[in-house]
Formats: sequence, C-alpha cells, structure tokens
Amino acid sequence: MAKYALLSILLLIFYFTIGTIADYNIMDFGAKLSDNGRQTDSTNALLQAWSLACASSINGATIYIPKGKFSIGHVKFQGPCKNTNIIIQIDGSLVAPSNYKGAGDEWIVFYQVDGVSIQGGTLDGQGEALWKCKESNQKCPTGWKNLLFDNSKNIVVNGLTSKNSKQFHIVIRSSERAMLKGVTVIAPGDSPNTDGISVQGSSDVTIRNANIKTGDDCISISAGARNVWAEHIACGPGHGISIGSIGKTYNEKGVENVTVKNTVFTGSENGLRIKTWGRPSTAFVRGVIFQESIMKNVKNPIVINQNYCPHSKNCPNQNSGVKVSDITYDDIQGSSASSVAVKFDCSKRNPCNGILVKNIKLTYHGGKAKSSCKYAKGSILGFVVPKSCITK
Ligand SMILES: *[C@@H]1O[C@H](CO)[C@@H](O)[C@H](O)[C@H]1NC(C)=O
Repeated sequence: MAKYALLSILLLIFYFTIGTIADYNIMDFGAKLSDNGRQTDSTNALLQAWSLACASSINGATIYIPKGKFSIGHVKFQGPCKNTNIIIQIDGSLVAPSNYKGAGDEWIVFYQVDGVSIQGGTLDGQGEALWKCKESNQKCPTGWKNLLFDNSKNIVVNGLTSKNSKQFHIVIRSSERAMLKGVTVIAPGDSPNTDGISVQGSSDVTIRNANIKTGDDCISISAGARNVWAEHIACGPGHGISIGSIGKTYNEKGVENVTVKNTVFTGSENGLRIKTWGRPSTAFVRGVIFQESIMKNVKNPIVINQNYCPHSKNCPNQNSGVKVSDITYDDIQGSSASSVAVKFDCSKRNPCNGILVKNIKLTYHGGKAKSSCKYAKGSILGFVVPKSCITK
C-alpha cells in the first residue's frame, strides 16, 4: 500500500508541476491593461514571465497575454533557454510607445532562442509620429522594427497581426527554420520603410497565407537567404515581393532556392522583383521560382533591376557583379499599370542566365503591354504575352 501511496503523491506532484509552473500569465507578474487612456507599462511583467519560462526545465511552457491592450517598451527575449518549447499565446495586443526617441532599432527582439512560437495577437508599433517626422525631412531616427528574430531557430509565428510599425514589421535574421502562418501586416501605403516580412541571412523560412498591406516591400528576401518558400500571399498596397537589394558590399552572400507561389498583388508598386546594386560583388541570386501570380493594376509586375544605386556612388559603369541565374516565371497573369509589364534590366558584365518565361499574360489598360530586355538570356515556353525579348 505504501508503495501506491508514494506513487500517487509523485504523480500528483508531477501534474501539479506541469499544470502550474508551465503557465505564465503576465497578469500574475503585475501586468495591467492600458485601456481607457490609462498608461500602465507592462514590460517588466512580460520579461519576468519570459525569464521563468526560459529557465523552466519542463518541455512546454506557455506565456499568456490575455485580451486587452498592454503598453510595452523595448523587450529583448534573450536565449538560449533551457526550455525549447515556449509558446507565447497572445489574445490581446501589445502597444509600443508612440514616442520614437527610444534607443535601438527594434521593439520586440528574440535573440538566440530555439523553439519559440507566437500564437495570435496584435503588435501595434504606433509609427505615425515617426513617419510624420520622416516626411517633413527632419533628422529622425530610423525607428524600431516591430519584431525581430535574430540568431534563432525553430520559430513559429501563427496568426499574428503586426500594424503600423515604425520601420520594418517582422524580420527573420541569421536564423534557421522559421514558419510564418496567417500573418497580417497593416500599415498605410505611404508609410516609409515599413517592409512587411524581411528574411535576411536565414535558411528554411516558410511564409504561408500572409496578407500584407504596407508602404514598402511586402516581403523582402536579402543576402544569405536560402530555401525560402512563400505561398498564398496577398500584397498591396506595397512595393511587392523583392529579392534584394543584393550586392551592396563586395563580399556578400548570395540568395538561393526561393519559391514564391500563389500570390495576388493589388495596386502595388512592383509584383515580383529582383534588385541588385550596380557595383562589383561576389553575390548571386539563383534558383528562383515565381509561380501562379495574379497582378491587379501593378506598376511593374515582373522586374529584374541590376542597376540599383540610389546616390550614384561607387557604382563604376553601373556594372553589377551579382550573378542572376535560373529564374522561372510561370503562370503570371493580370494587368500592369505601366506599359512595360516585363522588364529585365541585367548587368552588362554578368548577363542574367537561364531565365524561363512560361505562360505569361499581362495587359496594359486592357490592351497591349511591352517587354524590355537588357543582357537577359533564357528560354520561352507556352503562351507568353507581351512577347518576350529574352535571347538564347
Ligand atoms: C529548397 O527549399 C525548399 C524549401 O523551401 C526545400 O524543401 C528544398 O529541399 C530546397 N532544395 C534544396 C536543393 O536545398
């Protein structure tokens, strides 16, 4: 009997531990709602919940943020953690200060974490004041990015809404294995530098079912990105889905194996874009598939621009060293808002190689659109309108 009693007690302790210690409700750490004009800062409550969840040895901890608005300052969720399965369940919204003079470039940062997932919630960056500053040409700080994962792995972001970030919305930097599902980004079409999702120097990143309305790139994929998959993306307003800008520096990593599939662009500046600096560089862009895309009144539906050089500085003859190869455009349809719907402006020194255009149907005001090519080589398959100008 004594044996069974001991076993029951052990089981009880086990369940008790799982049930209580693994859940961290920020209200238990002094978080307060800042609704109705009340300004109560909940940064410390959130950080306390994090440090306990991070240090807990039980596999599986949940940090819970209930309904309502919580004012949060800059937070850094620092890893590595003992726990490699931390869920941050957000039912409410985290609101950044509207004051943009805070130090640093990011608002919410995860650094060196492994196995963190954010479920639901809204991040409100309150960027309006900083955008106004930037519009009036004053000296303004770059501003906080809403959310940054840096040097991390096994990340999930599911059903998160990021709005009105002061700068970029969501950045995946120097990380591995990230899955972003059902993410919504909302910022005005004229808000400066408010890129939606930015993948930098990261591998195995999947973005699915994202709805992005913003003032800069909906998705940007830059140097060192590998194995990126973006599917079911709605973009616009915004500057489109962009690989680049690549090749700003001489020794820069390339971009490899990117699939962008099932996208709808509405009134955006660009659709599918590759953009490289017109300067010497060892970087490359290769193995890209753009597939099944609908363009609705998009200014530049398909564009490769290898002449990027904003202040025309250190771009000798605008010769881009970035090697662009194996780029497929398959099943791209809809309307262009400018007469040139397909533009391949490649590097004289390193012509684009292995471009495949297949089943393209783009119109301009219901009529004929045009293609324009410079140093673009590849092949044409199926039905292609406007007539392609790439050469063998
Ligand atoms: C390319 O990336 C996809 C994920 O986007 C991955 O499944 C595939 O294995 C990668 N291919 C190579 C050759 O690495």
